[in-house]
Amino acid sequence: MRNLFISGNWKMNKNFNEGNNLMNDINQYAETNDTIDIAIFPPNLYLKYFQKNYKNITVGSQNLYFKNSGAFTGEISPSMLKSIGINWTIIGHSERRTIFGETPDIIKKKIDFSLKNDFKLIVCIGENIDQREKSMELDVIKMQIKNIYYKLERKDAQNIILAYEPLWAIGTGKTASPEDADKIHGQIREEIKKIYDEEFSSHLRIIYGGSVKPHNAQQLLSKKNIDGALIGGASLKSDSFLKICDIAGKIME
Ligand code: PGA
Repeated sequence: MRNLFISGNWKMNKNFNEGNNLMNDINQYAETNDTIDIAIFPPNLYLKYFQKNYKNITVGSQNLYFKNSGAFTGEISPSMLKSIGINWTIIGHSERRTIFGETPDIIKKKIDFSLKNDFKLIVCIGENIDQREKSMELDVIKMQIKNIYYKLERKDAQNIILAYEPLWAIGTGKTASPEDADKIHGQIREEIKKIYDEEFSSHLRIIYGGSVKPHNAQQLLSKKNIDGALIGGASLKSDSFLKICDIAGKIME
């Protein structure tokens, strides 16, 4: 019922030619494999070109600001992105939170403003290693969910995909076990059901992120509550990314 959503977050990697070659491969693949949804989040600089030239996949920005114009040096706005056909973004990635100091308040402002501007979002949640060691992951996630959905109308909330990304699994080669990730995704779905209802939560896509690779994708993606992946490292090579897409495609068949 929920189409698998396979997304690549390139972060600050790839020069234009390298990125363009990779996009070419993915776009070609997507032309004949349409059972899953594929989205790529390249550096902003390449968005216009990719959006124009690669029609088989969704292209989105890794970040945006919560105003449409003004004296905000270095930032990029929803209206700028929309003017080149982009209406997808990632919000609350742990690197934005830990390296660039984005607080829950900033994340909430970005969520509300993007939704007001008709964006579709991947919003990241997840605990750090300290919180996990103290078994606080569920409390942390519940707080994040409360912040994300505060006063959000259902029609807007429908434009969010949640990405569960335990911080200790990002870029480390460590993954949550498929059972563990599935359990947490199930708990996330329960929380969302409490805010909206069963119907809403059963349609919500909750994707997993944190060292998803070709060797663990099958086990993760075949879990009931895991609806796709947000992939960093393994999205930087067409070989590994398309292998994961293939695995997802077979699961959907
Ligand atoms: P990773 O990154 O796949 O390299 O762990 C995931 C992410 O940061 O979204």
